[in-house]
Amino acid sequence: MSSPALQVEHVAKRFGALTALRDVTLHLDRGEVLGLIGDNGAGKSTLIKILCGYHRPDAGQLSVDGTPVVLRSVDHARSLGIDTVYQGLALVNELSVYHNMFLNRELRIGPLLDNRTMRRRAREHLADMGVTIGDVGVEVAKLSGGQRQAIAVARAVYSDARIILLDEPLAAMGAKEGTQILDLIRALKRRGDVSIIIIAHNYAQVLDVCDRVNLLQHGTVTFDRPTAEVTVEELTDLVVAEYRRGRKE
Ligand SMILES: Nc1ncnc2c1ncn2[C@@H]1O[C@H](COP(=O)(O)OP(=O)(O)OP(=O)(O)O)[C@@H](O)[C@H]1O
Ligand SMILES: [Mg+2]
Repeated sequence: MSSPALQVEHVAKRFGALTALRDVTLHLDRGEVLGLIGDNGAGKSTLIKILCGYHRPDAGQLSVDGTPVVLRSVDHARSLGIDTVYQGLALVNELSVYHNMFLNRELRIGPLLDNRTMRRRAREHLADMGVTIGDVGVEVAKLSGGQRQAIAVARAVYSDARIILLDEPLAAMGAKEGTQILDLIRALKRRGDVSIIIIAHNYAQVLDVCDRVNLLQHGTVTFDRPTAEVTVEELTDLVVAEYRRGRKE
């Protein structure tokens, strides 16, 4: 059997006196879309920040394709094929769509930016991914939140990332924009060589687009099931029951 794209074993993370992650063990299979859910403050973003090299875990082990790794930085993780899309922080508003697509990976001819090639490739790549942007020369500040998010996802894909981490890619989005991101994720899934973790609070969307769902509670994974075997009601009950228990304590 082949190793998972990503394996997380017994990861812990504290911020001073606060334990954000106590003991997290999970895996992401190749070509799989894993939904990560949990209450506000459950530690989801902290886990993603560990997986993308931003935070160092206090304990535990990460493996990529079966090889243990210690992620030194976001760039190091990126060099291993792990890319992240943060909500809101993904793009530079003042730059054009195509400059954003090539951010930190600009194409050059000698010392000069090769704008013409970047523009053409950005256009081709977005079209490939089914993202329609009229003019890739427009500043991203002029685009909708959904379009911006779609460009951030497309950029991660274009970077040859094999593992993509999406922290609430659908948050604060209208139905139409949300649908575009979900379509993009489905297109990625069809490519088959990308593995994805998505954090989302909308369980219907999680069940719609993910293959499997993990619930994070008390800094550990308490639930792991294929989405085909679980309903929105069940997930809601799990999280609400937990919330009620917390209030009684
Ligand atoms: N840099 C930090 N310094 C101190 N505490 C932090 C830091 N980052 C996160 N925390 C704390 O760790 C806990 C987990 O936070 P995290 O952002 O991972 O939650 P989350 O599951 O992503 O929540 P949400 O669904 O609201 O985004 C919270 O109690 C939070 O306040
Ligand atoms: Mg979060």
